Amino acid sequence: MEIPDWSSMKLPSRPELFDFEGVSMVHYFTDNWEKVKNFQARPDDILIATYPKAGTTWVSYILDLLYFGNDAPERQTSQPIYMRVPFLESCFKVIASAKVKCHCISCKSEPVLCISSEICEADTEVLCWLYSAGTELADNLTTSPRLIKTHLPVQLVPKSFWEQNSRIVYVARNGKDNAVSYFHFDRMNMGEPEPGDWNTFLQKFIEGKKVFGPWYDHVSGWWEKKQTYSNLLYMFYEDLVEDTGREVERLCSFLGLSTSVEEREKITKGVQFDAMKQNKMTNYSTIPVMDFKISPFMRKGKVGDWKNHFTVAQNEQFDEVYKQKMKNTTVKFRTEI
Ligand code: A3P
Repeated sequence: MEIPDWSSMKLPSRPELFDFEGVSMVHYFTDNWEKVKNFQARPDDILIATYPKAGTTWVSYILDLLYFGNDAPERQTSQPIYMRVPFLESCFKVIASAKVKCHCISCKSEPVLCISSEICEADTEVLCWLYSAGTELADNLTTSPRLIKTHLPVQLVPKSFWEQNSRIVYVARNGKDNAVSYFHFDRMNMGEPEPGDWNTFLQKFIEGKKVFGPWYDHVSGWWEKKQTYSNLLYMFYEDLVEDTGREVERLCSFLGLSTSVEEREKITKGVQFDAMKQNKMTNYSTIPVMDFKISPFMRKGKVGDWKNHFTVAQNEQFDEVYKQKMKNTTVKFRTEI
């Protein structure tokens, strides 16, 4: 797939946060809500669910390699991971003045640019910079199973996933590192609200005033769901860091995949932080809205980076709030390995 030259594009101003069904959101994730709500899941779909910055891309790539790693090599070399694994609720429609080739699914009907695998040759001066809508991309996937990503809290997930008994992989990351990663992401991603300085950001994180709502409710809500919905695997970022191979094996056993030791070793090697950081198809360098000069998408990939950010007072405050907000859940996190 040809990746457009984004350099001449004018980026939009940062979006505002607002309340959406009791959850903080920006319009990029609600503009397409009717279609998201009514999305038709399939029994063989695999939904990758996370709070933002918990390791979504990592697990998406592992699953992509497990299912499609031996397929057409173009998939691995020319389709960015966000095209292979559509982001269900996302809906980016941004007008830019650049004149580039349109990559949309249906540019004739709508001036929307979508980096899809179908490339139309029309030139256009009006385009959207990413994909038209996650639901459309997912509907257009021809592979089986479909791998689909979401950051939605459990109560907002389209009901067809439960009705179809689709398999779900949830990845959780300890709150302190998750907050740090989210802070740097918001600094570099113009599609996110302005984060302010670290302390301003942290206070908002603690109050749950971040896109996709409170981290506490997200990780505990999905944890509770796991108690009654057996097709849900709940994973931890820290476990992936500790022993990626073991977690790949866990994924295989959950998904009923029989892979050889050699295959698993190859995948485990290919999904290490440095490999993914160098890989243009997994490092998000093809997305113009992210300014890597501020912070790269593949930033550090470590457990415990919070210690480089939290002051003693911030740490005490976080621990106190954590105790309160998490008192009714049994989910347990590690902050170091
Ligand atoms: P950091 O900002 O702490 O580096 P998501 O994909 O959900 O947006 O999560 C991004 C976070 O996962 C980033 O964390 C990124 O570096 C980390 N990550 C992605 N791939 C990784 C890998 N292979 N190993 C370790 N961390 C990884």
